[in-house]
Amino acid sequence: MEVLELDKVDVKSVERKRIKLSTGISDNARSEIAHGLSTVLADTYCLMLMTQNYHWNIKGMHFKAIHEITEEHYQEMFPAIDDIAERIRQLGYDVPGTLNDFNEMTSINVPNNKLGEQEMVADLLEGHEAVTRTIRKTIEPAAEATDEATVDLLTARLQFHEKAAWMLRSMLEQ
Ligand SMILES: [Fe+2]
Repeated sequence: MEVLELDKVDVKSVERKRIKLSTGISDNARSEIAHGLSTVLADTYCLMLMTQNYHWNIKGMHFKAIHEITEEHYQEMFPAIDDIAERIRQLGYDVPGTLNDFNEMTSINVPNNKLGEQEMVADLLEGHEAVTRTIRKTIEPAAEATDEATVDLLTARLQFHEKAAWMLRSMLEQ
């Protein structure tokens, strides 16, 4: 068998094919849901990165509490990101997967590692609330299309983010 150098291989030669989906969700609904899920993916990814950033950079009297809660939160978000991305593929769409893509789509603030500890908690709280708003926009078309698999996934995401928001809000309240 001939062994080729990589730059001699025509890697674009593969004929591309798409197989039509026939799962009972209309093309329009699939498009709307997949694009909505892409914004949920971008928000979740950017919020996970903010959470890690503050996990790494937190300083102050509440270091331990914030370092630990941020670890719990980013560890929860990491596998969820995979579930959201794979649901987009199941709906017949490609998944945005570059930091540039996510930057363009997200509603999450750019993290700032110079913030004080309370400001970091407030930034995370705002982020979790922003994701819940993004999720709610996609649950509606998914429910209308009886896309229960997406509704189920997004319901679990809402439960996580609203619980995280409650915990962070409680750290700021007296
Ligand atoms: Fe860590």
